[in-house]
Amino acid sequence: MPALLTIETTCDETAAAVVSDSLEVRGAVVASQDELHRRFSGVVPEIAARAHLERILPVIDTALTEAGVTLAELDAIAVATTPGLAGSLLVGLAAAKALCVATGKPLVAVNHLHAHIYACEMAARQAAPMEPAAAETDRYRVFPCVGFIVSGGHTNLYRCDSPIDFTPLGGTIDDAAGEAFDKVATLLGMPYPGGPAISAAAEKGDPRAHRFPRSFLKEDRLDFSFAGLKTAVRYAISPPTGPDPRTVELSEKQVADLAASFQQAVVDCLVGKAIQATRATNLPKLCVGGGVAANRRFRKQLTAACGKARIELHIAPPELCTDNAVMGAIAWELLASGRAAELDIDIQPGLVRVGR
Ligand code: KG4
Ligand code: ZN
Repeated sequence: MPALLTIETTCDETAAAVVSDSLEVRGAVVASQDELHRRFSGVVPEIAARAHLERILPVIDTALTEAGVTLAELDAIAVATTPGLAGSLLVGLAAAKALCVATGKPLVAVNHLHAHIYACEMAARQAAPMEPAAAETDRYRVFPCVGFIVSGGHTNLYRCDSPIDFTPLGGTIDDAAGEAFDKVATLLGMPYPGGPAISAAAEKGDPRAHRFPRSFLKEDRLDFSFAGLKTAVRYAISPPTGPDPRTVELSEKQVADLAASFQQAVVDCLVGKAIQATRATNLPKLCVGGGVAANRRFRKQLTAACGKARIELHIAPPELCTDNAVMGAIAWELLASGRAAELDIDIQPGLVRVGR
């Protein structure tokens, strides 16, 4: 059975997977670095790169062993080359290139953001497998669609005509949604990554306890801004002339209310703009991926809003929302369109800024 090895090292997860051409996941490994970055309340690029270097070969080895596939049996080797942290990306690309040189297999360069959306196609095909003889026009379950990536590094909306044809519609002009979760979590004394911790605390809080700003929500532009929201939370804990918010003792109820009100403000912005984007493009489907898409309240409210607006919603399953190598199966699409990479390809760390 044709199989490819995919490698993902864009940020702080070292991941590898083996996926067949029918998108069957044969092996998948994710080595998280959360514990290494926790005491810094965020990802430290040098630590991330060094940890990738230590882990990349065992992770690849384990994925291949799990799949029962040897390097010689692979059809291609894919790696995420953009966007991400330079040192992290370099480790993945160097490993992929070395394996390609050693085996003579083609190299495929994957865009990590496109892969996050492709996770939706994979999940949809698993739920409803494609007919082997599907017509060209019926090649995809979720494309064309509005693609929405909500992660620690990005909050971007795209028009996705196919898995390899993305047009930016808008994005954050400052912090990404996940970054806001992480920073507010630090203010509230919660561990990194902040998203799951805030989500858990918010369960017991009142989302209307604080009225935090919802930037751009009433405007036509498909952009986001979370910096003002983060500052508003900071001042709700301690006023501008007050003590450092991290030294302020908060009761469990106060923390829960702040977490719930913050989360609600983020969710309102994300849901509002996603619906706006589908209206602006007239596309009937919405696909959402990235770490923040694992958030329960976001999933629930987006599902309700899409139901009301008659939009077909595909949210990546939680295990494929946070960084993983399985979604690198988008490489099959690139291979099919003749887009294998040259061996001298470089990384492209630059964040794709689409905000105005
Ligand atoms: O996609 P991802 O694993 O990495 C990037 O490409 O950035 O996303 C990580 C981000 C972190 O900021 C984390 O706090 C956030 O996703 N996150 C969540 C949840 N789980 C992870 N945010 C809100 N609610 C969650 N349940
Ligand atoms: Zn990601």
